[in-house]
Amino acid sequence: MFSKDFYWGASSSAFQIEGGWDEDGKGLTVADYNSFKRSHLQADTKVASDFYHHYKEDIAMMKELGLKMYRFSISWARIMPNGDGKVNQKGIDFYNDVIDELVKNNIEPFVTLYHFDLPFALVEKYNGWASKKTVAAFVEYSKVCFEHFGDRVKKWQICNEQNLMIRVNERINIYNLQGEDAEKLRVIMDHHMFLAYAKSSKLCKELVQDGLVGPSISATVTYPLTNKPEDVMSAIWNNRLKTDYCIDTHVNGEYPKYYIKYLHESGRYPDFSEDDLEVLKLSAVDFISVNYYRTLTSRFLASDDSNPLGKKVEGMNIVDYNMYGYWEIVKNDNLMETEYGAQIDPTGLRIALNNYWNTYKKPLIITENGLGTADVLEEGQVHDGYRIEYIKAHLLAIHAAVNDGVDVFGYNCWSIMDLLSSHQGFKKRYGLIFIDRTDFDVKDLKRIPKDSYYWYQQVIASNGASIE
Ligand code: BG6
Repeated sequence: MFSKDFYWGASSSAFQIEGGWDEDGKGLTVADYNSFKRSHLQADTKVASDFYHHYKEDIAMMKELGLKMYRFSISWARIMPNGDGKVNQKGIDFYNDVIDELVKNNIEPFVTLYHFDLPFALVEKYNGWASKKTVAAFVEYSKVCFEHFGDRVKKWQICNEQNLMIRVNERINIYNLQGEDAEKLRVIMDHHMFLAYAKSSKLCKELVQDGLVGPSISATVTYPLTNKPEDVMSAIWNNRLKTDYCIDTHVNGEYPKYYIKYLHESGRYPDFSEDDLEVLKLSAVDFISVNYYRTLTSRFLASDDSNPLGKKVEGMNIVDYNMYGYWEIVKNDNLMETEYGAQIDPTGLRIALNNYWNTYKKPLIITENGLGTADVLEEGQVHDGYRIEYIKAHLLAIHAAVNDGVDVFGYNCWSIMDLLSSHQGFKKRYGLIFIDRTDFDVKDLKRIPKDSYYWYQQVIASNGASIE
């Protein structure tokens, strides 16, 4: 069914699983800082799933599961507590141990360098991504990682979901600005992340023998609500300004014309320097990592004198924002929703994969896809048939895309184990492995394979044949 070297994997990120937030010299991160502000509402990063102390046991369970790949992130602040400058040897040691343990168990490590957890020292020193000094810090940090781990890690993601992260103020430390000031700063921060990508992807090619590098994007597939041409165009713009501009820039080494046009029209063009535009051309892309959870539906939203072209509609969720003159997101009545409002749509994944392959002709890998819900532990077991149905439907969609001619070389479900979800802590669980803790009681953190773990084990053992 799937090619014999298809990568069956699972995913996680540092701040969501590791815990040990200040152990062995690790510095505070933006993810820690934001999670501590919400400690009274949900679990924070202090213990999380405690991978920091359980990694051997966890990797043994990955081996038992049959994983061919494990996609995880390195915590920048564990390697460089101040964001730049001094390297923390204990951080290097920890990731060396994790990588060695994976390799020993024939699991290929697939590393993300930056998953929402900017070292907080860089916010204090440089105002984070607002400054080019953070670009330099990132390049320095990535060099340390390529040099220390590049002998064993051959697949690298530079940054997780830059296209989504940039929309969320707290993740990029826009704490005080609002309205147009925030929008203009967002474009500059995004630009700095593009520069960081370009420089460190080039370094990866230079420093890691046979190293492959790519961006990870949060996929946006938008359906027009009707066949009115303006609704169809609204869906194209929603894809473009939430995701496509990001892949276009990485892959082509320059901003697409439609993005520059939008920046001018909205008054957000920051006057990129010629030197910076040259740096973008360094960008290397061997593959594109796709994180996929849902689709969106849109219709045209007219602008007028009080709501000019490019103005964002106020008061809505910034991730799915609406913009005058471009689009408005509406509900798709044809799709079921998770209890957290994500519309479940496996066919959307087939569409995304076809679109990205046909546009960019780069091999694709899914690095996140999964169902977040409140699982229940019953007599020591978790019967998550709903998760099995979800993953199964998405794997069938991937297979359909492969049959359409798309080059998809792996699937990493989100997530290997229950972890800290952004706004629901441990109430919303994604894992194949249950972590026995609640938001406010860490209990014994026992690892318990769910039904989905055993099902996925069969899928991997049969190379996908057992799905049908
Ligand atoms: C992805 C992120 O966007 O969505 C993950 O890369 C995140 O870090 C996942 O956990 C699910 O979102 P949430 O909000 O349910 O945690």
